[in-house]
Amino acid sequence: MVNLMERRMVGAALDLARNEVVARTATGFRAHTKPNVDLYPFLWDWDSAIVAMAFSDLGIPERGLAELRSLHAAQHESGLVAHIAFSRAESDLARYFPGPDVWGGLHGRDGRPISGITQPPVSGIALRSLVEHGIDPESPGVRDLAIRIDEHHRWWMRERDPAGDGNVVVLHGWSTGRDNAPEVLDLYRGNDIPVRRGVGALRRDLAHGVSADSRPTDEYYERSIGLADRGVELGGWTSPGLAARMPMQLSDPLVAALLAGSAADLAFVARVAGLPRIADSSAHIAQRVTGALAARATSDGAIHAVDVRRGRLLDQHKTITTPMTAWAPGLPDSVLAHNAQLIHDGDLGGAHGVLTTARDSAWFDPQRYWQGPSWPHMDELVARGLQRSASEPGRSPEVRRTVHDAITELDARTSAAILRDGSPEYRHADTGVTVGKQHMSFSSGSQIMHARRGGHHDEALRRAADAYREASVWHAAP
Ligand code: GLC
Repeated sequence: MVNLMERRMVGAALDLARNEVVARTATGFRAHTKPNVDLYPFLWDWDSAIVAMAFSDLGIPERGLAELRSLHAAQHESGLVAHIAFSRAESDLARYFPGPDVWGGLHGRDGRPISGITQPPVSGIALRSLVEHGIDPESPGVRDLAIRIDEHHRWWMRERDPAGDGNVVVLHGWSTGRDNAPEVLDLYRGNDIPVRRGVGALRRDLAHGVSADSRPTDEYYERSIGLADRGVELGGWTSPGLAARMPMQLSDPLVAALLAGSAADLAFVARVAGLPRIADSSAHIAQRVTGALAARATSDGAIHAVDVRRGRLLDQHKTITTPMTAWAPGLPDSVLAHNAQLIHDGDLGGAHGVLTTARDSAWFDPQRYWQGPSWPHMDELVARGLQRSASEPGRSPEVRRTVHDAITELDARTSAAILRDGSPEYRHADTGVTVGKQHMSFSSGSQIMHARRGGHHDEALRRAADAYREASVWHAAP
């Protein structure tokens, strides 16, 4: 048993080395981790932020710092952190659709081609984890990141809060991080959502050993590319005020709660880094976004997505977006209790992890991507969000116990799944069998995070860190 866990941890650490990309720059070496060398051969925003947290937990926070620095080096001058920073390598570009041209030719500050949309913001959370694992908060690297992450959070408040009430929105399905989640599919049905016909034939994902029935459909891709085109037509993805003009404006609780959590953690880092202005404005952002979420909690403590354009509460969809609200600091006990119950013995309590979509949802599909399967990084983020929310001062003992029981059960399911199959991209909602791609960085990274949080696997993690160091190009760089 112990040896098997060790093998799993070493395997996960080797995945991080396998997906690693090291580039020489004018000032030294830059490193990031591809989500997967075949399916997702570039840098993805939240994948990299989660990998940075995994490196903290692996005891190699300096590598996590390099990951975050690479992510933010490609930040656009407007403050946008793109969901993808592309490379120019033909071999990578040939593996993935859509490439950079779909987004209208944008570039990050360091010149890398980037997409025009963002993803759930996790960088502030990752930066705090690095500082808590020994990175000096007053070092230039951390201070520089704090400034950039703050720019990104302020971009959210300036460019993605069209009503100015703290209800931040995303303008594209891929920005939710849960591509084909029911909330997205619901909005994609609208007859004002543009469609680019025929893009099914351009897809590359199905060439990488994943089955069509575990992936989003061609119709989904047609709308996703249609929306990308629309952003370009409306003046470009980084044009000020775009949000109010786009046909899709989805206020997704998962995204908002991570923004609030990221801002709260940035406030923490900025305070210890001696950046009081950033600390204050970050705390303010966290409060504002949390306040908007709290204001729409139902009497039983559920927070749902909103179709902002049509003023429609999307409360018919039961998805993982609701328990992820635990990341927003200071939500009422009722919300926390509801979230814990949902993932424990409620509608999202899957036998192999948190269901991304409840079984009684019209869009439930046990193996299709975000329509049901459990995703390892989500299980870890849900557990961490609940844990930190339960530890906030003033929580009632009952709610603390409810959360504790829910996390204990989820962790037991996760440990069993790891021992059985490691950490695939996602697990079939009913059978738990692995679906999607193997060797996914954020899945493997979450496995390391899960083990560290459990506190029983120090030796396995030490060996995993050694294995990473031995295999890593970054580690071997002068
Ligand atoms: C898919 C996932 C998204 C992830 C990306 C790269 O688009 O839905 O969450 O960031 O792949 O792994």
